[in-house]
Amino acid sequence: MQRFSISVVFYLLILRPFVYGQLDYRFYDSKCPNLTKIVRFGIWSAMANDTRIAASLLRLHFHDCISNGCEGSVLLDASSSFQSEKDANPNRNSARGFELIDTIKANVEKACPSTVSCADILTLAAREAVFLTGGPYWSLAMGRRDGLTANITAANTDIPSPFEPLENITAKFTTKGLNLNDVVVLSGAHTIGFAQCFTFKPRLFDFHGSGAPDPQLDASLATSLQGVCPNQDDSDTNLVPLDAVTTTKFDNIYFKRLVNNSGILGSDQALMSDNRTAQMVINYSKFPFLFAKDFGASMAKLSTVGVITGQDGQVRNKCNVVN
Ligand SMILES: *[C@@H]1O[C@H](CO)[C@@H](O)[C@H](O)[C@H]1NC(C)=O
Ligand SMILES: *[C@@H]1O[C@H](CO)[C@@H](O)[C@H](O)[C@H]1NC(C)=O
Ligand SMILES: *[C@@H]1O[C@H](CO)[C@@H](O)[C@H](O)[C@H]1NC(C)=O
Ligand SMILES: *[C@@H]1O[C@H](CO)[C@@H](O)[C@H](O)[C@H]1NC(C)=O
Ligand SMILES: *[C@@H]1O[C@H](CO)[C@@H](O)[C@H](O)[C@H]1NC(C)=O
Ligand SMILES: *[C@@H]1O[C@H](CO)[C@@H](O)[C@H](O)[C@H]1NC(C)=O
Ligand SMILES: *[C@@H]1O[C@H](CO)[C@@H](O)[C@H](O)[C@H]1NC(C)=O
Repeated sequence: MQRFSISVVFYLLILRPFVYGQLDYRFYDSKCPNLTKIVRFGIWSAMANDTRIAASLLRLHFHDCISNGCEGSVLLDASSSFQSEKDANPNRNSARGFELIDTIKANVEKACPSTVSCADILTLAAREAVFLTGGPYWSLAMGRRDGLTANITAANTDIPSPFEPLENITAKFTTKGLNLNDVVVLSGAHTIGFAQCFTFKPRLFDFHGSGAPDPQLDASLATSLQGVCPNQDDSDTNLVPLDAVTTTKFDNIYFKRLVNNSGILGSDQALMSDNRTAQMVINYSKFPFLFAKDFGASMAKLSTVGVITGQDGQVRNKCNVVN
């Protein structure tokens, strides 16, 4: 009995921190010791010119993982055997960061040829993007392999849309092993980045056919958003910050804005319309460290969804084409 409990404790304390399924926290320690530095430097350099890039990388990683797993399929260009997920509705004319991932991959290849998958690079890029904008840092198990194909149908059906009700979005998370708390905490990624006007315009002018703005949207915010997104098609691609208070800083102000009826997307504000999620939002609005801790935990969990490991898949030479 005593020996049994000692070995259980040993397993929990010693083995668990380094291995998650087939993924390993020390996967690249000897194979590519400078990997994190290379990824961080690539993003840091890009941010000097384009502060939006951090949010774009975070979104790209989410779109990769939530549709057929974190296996780099979102990075693939169309080929003779498959369509590109870049052309799926949630990505077309909005997914960004592909060139930067390709550049970082080229730099990684110089340091450690044929060793680091694009799926791992994108996973690290999302964490570094959060860290470099002032957000939390979390440990990541590595060793993802790259998929051999893309699936535009999965990208079209599995990625949550800002027009969907909370139940539908939650269902898309739960089928991937994520839960309601992950929905809320990962929505906190909208503390950085921008949305195109078309993603929330119905809330400004004709909410559910009422001919009026969404009553759940703060009235003075509605007026100012109507100025940036006038009711005509040519304003559809104008950009509005998802967190207008601290747009480039990863903090918990997004949640405070939801409490104030100032969420931009209908799917953001909807988190206040369900008692369970509203309580979580209020928690995160009050306790920035709770948000930081939970965000890291949910991101680590997201990054294990549908991974390919071992001898399956491949390590791509270039992220936009299979070898
Ligand atoms: C890691 O980077 C340092 C410089 O930052 C360099 O001196 C060292 O050789 C690199 N190590 C490997 C294994 O590439
Ligand atoms: C700077 O960022 C813009 C996008 O915001 C991009 O079009 C341009 O190529 C970037 N310039 C450099 C030097 O990276
Ligand atoms: C592509 O994704 C869809 C939706 O998830 C799924 O039904 C289909 O089987 C997938 N196709 C392939 C070839 O994996
Ligand atoms: C939500 O899901 C239900 C059931 O799957 C579906 O019938 C409905 O069209 C979805 N709503 C939206 C807005 O996507
Ligand atoms: C939320 O509303 C309160 C009361 O109007 C205001 O004092 C506070 O600054 C607002 N917070 C944010 C983050 O908008
Ligand atoms: C949610 O809260 C409202 C009032 O705030 C209450 O009327 C309702 O019963 C609650 N629903 C659940 C499921 O707790
Ligand atoms: C709010 O946070 C406290 C810890 O600060 C936790 O005990 C409680 O369960 C949280 N409530 C929700 C709904 O997440």
